[in-house]
Amino acid sequence: MNNPGSDKTFKPPQALAPTPQLYDELVGDGMENLAKATVAEILPINSGSVILDDGCGTGAGTTAVFDAVTDKSNITIKGVDIHEGALEVYKKKAAEHQWPAEAIKADAAKLDSINDDTFTHVIGTAFLFVLPEDGVGSIKEIHRTLKPGGVAVFNSWAHVPNMDPLRVASAKTRPEGTPEIRGGMDKWEDSAFLRGVIEKGGFASDKITMTKRDVYVTATTIQRYATMLWSFIGGTTKAGWLESDAEKWDEAIEIVKAELRKADGFKELDDGRLRLKFVANIAVATK
Ligand SMILES: C[S@@+](CC[C@H](N)C(=O)[O-])C[C@H]1O[C@@H](n2cnc3c(N)ncnc32)[C@H](O)[C@@H]1O
Repeated sequence: MNNPGSDKTFKPPQALAPTPQLYDELVGDGMENLAKATVAEILPINSGSVILDDGCGTGAGTTAVFDAVTDKSNITIKGVDIHEGALEVYKKKAAEHQWPAEAIKADAAKLDSINDDTFTHVIGTAFLFVLPEDGVGSIKEIHRTLKPGGVAVFNSWAHVPNMDPLRVASAKTRPEGTPEIRGGMDKWEDSAFLRGVIEKGGFASDKITMTKRDVYVTATTIQRYATMLWSFIGGTTKAGWLESDAEKWDEAIEIVKAELRKADGFKELDDGRLRLKFVANIAVATK
């Protein structure tokens, strides 16, 4: 992809088009494992709990809750998302796995159909960093709809192992002075930023605890992973794709692969897939 702010249309012929299927392949089991690590911070979730999976998407948070709860007969879950397509998948999974879950189409910053003091738990996984104003509006709604003593859990990535390899490939294959590849989520790496956003949403500072957890992600083969990464993110600098990127394509991919192999926690599995270590910031906020 080119930077949306750049008007360049050139794209190396080798670059893969970013389809939802390829994004899924790139993400691997990352969303599920992030959700699992996040929900683990608020266990046990007891019988009688009323849970909001905010920005539920296709249900990684709900899956993690449901897998972790032993008495599944007496919990209720509301999955809220703004995206109809994601909710359709969520509803199908709910029926298939018999989740005690209701899918609600709403903007997380306007939960008008939900009363004050409703939930015992709120899960917001891979959520705040996709929202406008860093999700402060949605945190205010979470604070309003949580019962006193209820807990909300949020996350952001503290470290991703796949951005530095792209920066190194860019620096080594492009002319000096080409703008650096920047991750849109860099500010979220600092746990103080995540904490600050939660405070702005109305939670008291002394009711927020922060932890870091390793999240191992298994994805596709390294050749395909490196090609998808470079295809999706290589052209997102202010300069967009350069004509020289087409000639240097294979060189860039080899650099991305070599740098990925150096990352802490990297492993190539027997079946050829790769395993990467991400680190998550996890925040638990009590009302
Ligand atoms: C990165 S996905 C994470 C989905 C899910 N929580 C998971 O862990 O797989 C972010 C989700 O937030 C949803 N979303 C974005 N803006 C929203 C809003 N204003 N209100 C509710 N959901 C929103 C998106 O549709 C998407 O499903």
